[in-house]
Amino acid sequence: MKSRQDQWLLNQLRGCTFDDFLVPPGWGKAKSRKGISLISRFSEHVSLNVPVVSANMDTITGARMAIAFAREGGIGIIHRYLGIGDQCKKVEEVKRKESSVIENPRSISKGSTIGEARKIMEREKIGCLVVINDSGKLLGLLSSRDVRFASDDQLVAERMKSEKDLITASPDVSFSKARQILDRNRLEKLPLVDKDRKLVGLITSKDIENLGLYPLANKDTNGRLVVGAAVGATGDYIERTAELIKIGADVLIMDIANFQSDVGLEAVKNLRSKFPEAELVVGNIVDPDAVKVYQDLGVNGLKIGLGPGSACTTRFNTNIGVPQAQAIYDCARVSDVPIIADGGIKRDGHIASALLLGAESVMVGGLIAGTDETPGLVFRDSTGRKAKIFRGMASREAMYERLRAEEVDDPYETSSKLSPEGLEKKIEYKGSVIPIIREIAGHLASTVSYLGGMSLQEAREIFMKNPRKHLVKLSLAAQKESWDR
Ligand code: XMP
Repeated sequence: MKSRQDQWLLNQLRGCTFDDFLVPPGWGKAKSRKGISLISRFSEHVSLNVPVVSANMDTITGARMAIAFAREGGIGIIHRYLGIGDQCKKVEEVKRKESSVIENPRSISKGSTIGEARKIMEREKIGCLVVINDSGKLLGLLSSRDVRFASDDQLVAERMKSEKDLITASPDVSFSKARQILDRNRLEKLPLVDKDRKLVGLITSKDIENLGLYPLANKDTNGRLVVGAAVGATGDYIERTAELIKIGADVLIMDIANFQSDVGLEAVKNLRSKFPEAELVVGNIVDPDAVKVYQDLGVNGLKIGLGPGSACTTRFNTNIGVPQAQAIYDCARVSDVPIIADGGIKRDGHIASALLLGAESVMVGGLIAGTDETPGLVFRDSTGRKAKIFRGMASREAMYERLRAEEVDDPYETSSKLSPEGLEKKIEYKGSVIPIIREIAGHLASTVSYLGGMSLQEAREIFMKNPRKHLVKLSLAAQKESWDR
């Protein structure tokens, strides 16, 4: 952008956030919203089909939310407020949920018992095990139907469907051919075997069906859903990172309240020296000088925001913060790596503004709180309405929970002495998150189309080329006209 325009935009945005502005349209050329691309990036090497990210909070993103976001084209970030093994299990659950070809299907030997098979199926939430011998040859398939009425001490060999009754395919079978085979034979699973009958993979009818159900699904090169995982900057973060990488997390998000700190700096240096290839996003920061510091250390993305979150009280309690629209532009204009706008999204229009101002994706917490896919139970409040709990990670309740998990002697007493910077809230139950994400994508496509683009990237260019035309600061009356509903 020309520097005078850049200066003008900086001045306009100073001290302001999303509700302070509207975006006058350009000249629309899209015939329908269907052809509009929302392709973007979460980090340098992790792309998105829809630029939304679920927040790494313990009342927002576990495996279920991460699966939903990846299926809809975004990405979910599994929170870090749990043991390393438990966090890895959640990452694994996402990675195993669907794939074009399952390369290492869960297997069992024919001499194992049905009780053992049942345990694996329950623990890993899978409905089928392949039976192989010591050299990896396929011997049979054991599905949940085969074990339903079997006793625990029966052997797998007695209940499995044996190899001679199975239909298999070679490893290079195409998807359309695999689909034909599954359909023609009314099968659920198609094992792939090499010329020596060794098992090399498994294709499931569910995965093929999902290709049609979730056309925007965000997948890795092996056709598995993409997922991120959060780590801290102190304590077990190196060990956690090693395990998360091993289990297949696509990107690590080193996340602390204030990454503009020696703690953040040291942690990045340490992590980078041990895992030079890891895809690493760090945050949160709000200062362009910090952008330069971290991008020089080779991070692959930066998370921006200080205190805009819907469950945050940092600004209230410390008077520290930067209005989110200002922070996004300040950082995006100097960044060579993707910017994630984190916090303060109250409606879909805020997402559009964050993306036009230079963010490549937007992280949401409160917007999707109370949905089915969030961890935690649905309960009825005193008025009889269904609700779920949502809380800031620096709330007293979250601190208490963490101390309890760490088996601190008196978690209640200890947490009551800490100064919280977050709130716990009761959120009205919202049903599934899927329609919420789809509506966001629809609204974003409309923003792009109003501006006269065919892609998010093009819309941002139109906006940045002429910000004086496409950004208007609102009077209080205009804000009332726009936002009071
Ligand atoms: P939204 O507005 O989407 O924001 O709910 C989600 C983001 O809020 C941040 N976060 C916190 N910030 N105290 C804070 O100051 C907290 O307790 C807290 N918990 C979460 C975080 O960046 C998240 O992604």
